[in-house]
Amino acid sequence: MSFGFPTETIKEGEIKAVVPKLETYREKPQDYAPSKAPVFYNPVMELNRDFAVLALQAHQKTVDREIRVSEPLTGCGLRGVRFAVEVSGVCKVVLNDINPQSVKITKHNAELNGVEDKVEVCNLDANLFLTQHAAPKKRLDYVDVDPFGTPVVYMDSALRALRNGGMIALTATDMAPLCGVHRKACIRKYGGTPLRTEYCHELAVRLLVGCTAVMAAKHEIGINVLFSHSIDHYVRAYATVSHGAKVADKSVQQMGYILHCFSCFHRETVQGIVSPLKQVCPNCGAKLSVAGPLWLGKIADQNFCATMEEELGKRNLKKKNKLLKTLTLIRNEADAPVTYYGVDKICDKLNLPISSQTKVMNGIKAQGFVAIPTHFNSRGIKTDAPTDVVKDVITKLAQKMGR
Ligand SMILES: C[S@@+](CC[C@H](N)C(=O)[O-])C[C@H]1O[C@@H](n2cnc3c(N)ncnc32)[C@H](O)[C@@H]1O
Ligand SMILES: [Zn+2]
Repeated sequence: MSFGFPTETIKEGEIKAVVPKLETYREKPQDYAPSKAPVFYNPVMELNRDFAVLALQAHQKTVDREIRVSEPLTGCGLRGVRFAVEVSGVCKVVLNDINPQSVKITKHNAELNGVEDKVEVCNLDANLFLTQHAAPKKRLDYVDVDPFGTPVVYMDSALRALRNGGMIALTATDMAPLCGVHRKACIRKYGGTPLRTEYCHELAVRLLVGCTAVMAAKHEIGINVLFSHSIDHYVRAYATVSHGAKVADKSVQQMGYILHCFSCFHRETVQGIVSPLKQVCPNCGAKLSVAGPLWLGKIADQNFCATMEEELGKRNLKKKNKLLKTLTLIRNEADAPVTYYGVDKICDKLNLPISSQTKVMNGIKAQGFVAIPTHFNSRGIKTDAPTDVVKDVITKLAQKMGR
């Protein structure tokens, strides 16, 4: 079949798919070919789609019934067709894209994999498409919002299109606002202040989830975050929704602020959106900086991660090792304290040689505190130890190294 532009057939997960031939659209080496092609396709996001397949299967297992799922911004339909082929218990996949060429290629990809009866493809603006699913009996079990940049402009209609107990999945690629490079844009879009700290990727997840919680609460919907991750140039969050004012109140109560001292690395959390905030660091007297309001609650659930791991074990995915490594880290840090310390950042500030992350963790644990690695940063440590203990451990390790 001809699409009027150069294409190729690729394999991803258990499917074959026709996608634009990306090299054709790269005139200069620095060109970002996925956005130049007539239909969007980004091979780098395979891992994102792999995690989505695992999370959707874990969700289906939890609800234990046939589910109807949707991707309102589908590109070549890879994610949606993978849901239809790879996730058991999916009875319907409703896909959509504003680009007519995307609709054509997605329909073709559904046929190529023999799931054209399960997959429906629409050609509407995503908000209009989702609103058509917002009425009782039309609502969906899972909505996956994977747009260019921020998902906030589709969040409201995605939440309204979900049935009670359904799951929302959101990708945000606008890391410059979320990580504090474009502070005003973050406040505008997510309703919270970011901070350029070493743990800005965790803050990005918490700002995204916080925005979802506040948006959901307006509809008297509460959220329960089951999985989230930060990889490459994006963050991703998965949460189930529960209808009711009380559950909505409960999720709003998990909003708050993180106060951070750029002078001594001290940080603390303040629960509640309308709370008085300290101005001065209790550790060193410097001025505190504020991130938030953002989500201070859990950003992953151990049992849900374990189900995803079980599902991963049954599948033959190209990036299985990376998926497993990341999943294990996320499961282990699911109940860990908010924020993490960057060993390199502290060594740099204290003008000390870089210590091994394992040795720092062992030193912290030897003092009776928890110390857990994080998927957010390969040199990051989550701990309940006060900042001075972390710095002391690092300083003593450096002294041992001969300084
Ligand atoms: C990042 S791509 C989607 C990639 C896809 N989710 C995947 O996993 O491969 C974003 C898509 O959103 C579509 N799009 C942009 N604005 C839209 C709108 N207002 N309504 C529906 N689709 C839109 C674009 O045509 C593009 O295909
Ligand atoms: Zn301080």
